[in-house]
Formats: sequence, C-alpha cells, structure tokens
Amino acid sequence: MLVIVPTYNERENLPVITRRLREAVPEAHLLIADDDSPDGTGKIADELAAGDDHVHVLHRPGGKQGLGAAYIAGFRWGLAEGYGVLVEMDADGSHPPETLPRLLDALARGADLAIGSRYVPGGEVVNWPASREFLSRGANVFTRFMLGLPVRDATAGFRAYRAATLEKVGLDNVQSQGYCFQVDLTLRTVRSGLRVREVPITFVERAAGVSKMSRGVMVEAFWRITAWGVTGLPARLRRRRLHRRMNRRR
Ligand code: GDD
Ligand code: MN
Repeated sequence: MLVIVPTYNERENLPVITRRLREAVPEAHLLIADDDSPDGTGKIADELAAGDDHVHVLHRPGGKQGLGAAYIAGFRWGLAEGYGVLVEMDADGSHPPETLPRLLDALARGADLAIGSRYVPGGEVVNWPASREFLSRGANVFTRFMLGLPVRDATAGFRAYRAATLEKVGLDNVQSQGYCFQVDLTLRTVRSGLRVREVPITFVERAAGVSKMSRGVMVEAFWRITAWGVTGLPARLRRRRLHRRMNRRR
C-alpha cells in the first residue's frame, strides 16, 4: 500500500504526519509529492526518506502545479512500482492516519474506492470557520445537482483506491489541476461502474501553515463541474427514462 501526500509549504506538518502514519499503519509506504516548496519542505522530505525505507520522495520541478497534477504524478509512480492500493492524504493532519484502517477495510469488503467522508452520518469537521464549511458543503450540493453522484463528500481528499480502479478509469486525459481533481476521479469511478463507499471521518483543521485553497481553485472547479454536468446530461436523462419505463412495467 502506498500513501501519497502532496506537499506545498508544509515544513512544520510533514514530520508530524509522517510519524503519525508510520505508527498508525507501519506496513504502509509513503510517497511525498513536493512541488519544489519554497519553504524547504522538499529537503525535510529527503531527510525523512534517508532515515526510513518506507518513505519516498517525488520532487516535481517547476513550482506549484496543483494538487491534481501532484496526485497524478504520484499515482503513476505508485502504479509503476506495483502497489495494490493507493491512498490520498493531506500533509497538514486534517486526515487522521489513525482512521486509515477503516478505509482499507472498506476496500477489503469490496469497494473499488473508499472515501473518508465528512458529510455522512458520523463524519464531522472540527475547527473550520463557518465560511469554509459553507463553501465545502455548497460545493458538494452543487456537485450533486450537476452530476447526480451518489456521494456526500465528492471533494474529500482522504481516500483509498485499488490500483485496478485507477487503471480502469485511466489517468491520461485527466485535466483537473486543483481540488476538482477529487470530483473528477469520483465521477470517473462512478461512470466506470465501480463501487464507491463512504466511511465517516473527523476532519480537523490544520494546526500549522496555510490552506492552498484559492480563487483559481474555485473557478476551475466551478467551470469544470458545470461542463461535466452539461456533457453528461443526455446520458443522465436516458438513464432516468429507462428507470421510469422499468418501474412502470413492475
Ligand atoms: N504538490 C502540491 N502541489 N501539493 C499541494 C498543492 C500543489 O499545488 N496544493 C495543495 N497541496 C497540498 C497541501 O500541501 C496539502 O498537503 C494538501 O495538498 C491539501 O491542501 P490544503 O491547502 O491543506 O487543502 P484544504 O485544507 O484547503 O482543503 C481540503 O479540503 C478540500 C476540499 O474538500 C483538502 O482535504 C482537499 O484535499 C480537499 O479537496
Ligand atoms: Mn488542509
């Protein structure tokens, strides 16, 4: 199993999350995907990797290129190395590695993608300003309306994929760069007919450093989700008509 942690200016958080993950799930390997952070996170990553054969670093030159781009590079690395399960997790401690076994359990029970969800019963968000939670919940309502996904937390960043899931959905034509990458892959997984399970988690606001959420991230998410909704509409209507017809026959 490979846990991929994208980093951009996470120097204070990286050693903490590394230690927590290594203690919580000792068999897991960690890949830090750093976008040449100006604060020296990449160097700290190298030091962590030097002292632990379960820690690997992917240095991505060229500066900040978005969470989606970092994950795609990380997935490619992990698939090439032959990992069977690929996990996404933030560096800032918002995603408790101690609950990773619950995600893995969902995969073991047959899910193709397990999402650590804030918005299913039992899930929660701790210490987020009301404005940020409103934005996140709003993004999920918008996503459900546009795409009709059977998922409560489609933007969640704590998830476990089977390698076979990523191979089936394909990464070659993923264009999402920012946080809408999460919605993008959820949509691809559902449209590929694969099984998604949500597992409740407690999301805790970061203790150190700052969020990389930006206007650009929001704008990209808005227009991409709208475009996916419009292009997917004919198929959605066809499916709905089919269901109605089947229900009438029953
Ligand atoms: N390599 C790289 N490049 N890493 C990045 C980049 C980037 O351009 N942008 C962000 N990251 C890393 C951060 O360093 C962190 O480890 C993780 O991606 C998440 O970024 P945050 O800035 O902590 O995100 P957030 O807390 O605002 O957003 C959370 O909620 C989003 C919406 O629900 C996260 O859980 C996201 O994954 C989630 O999509
Ligand atoms: Mn965060």
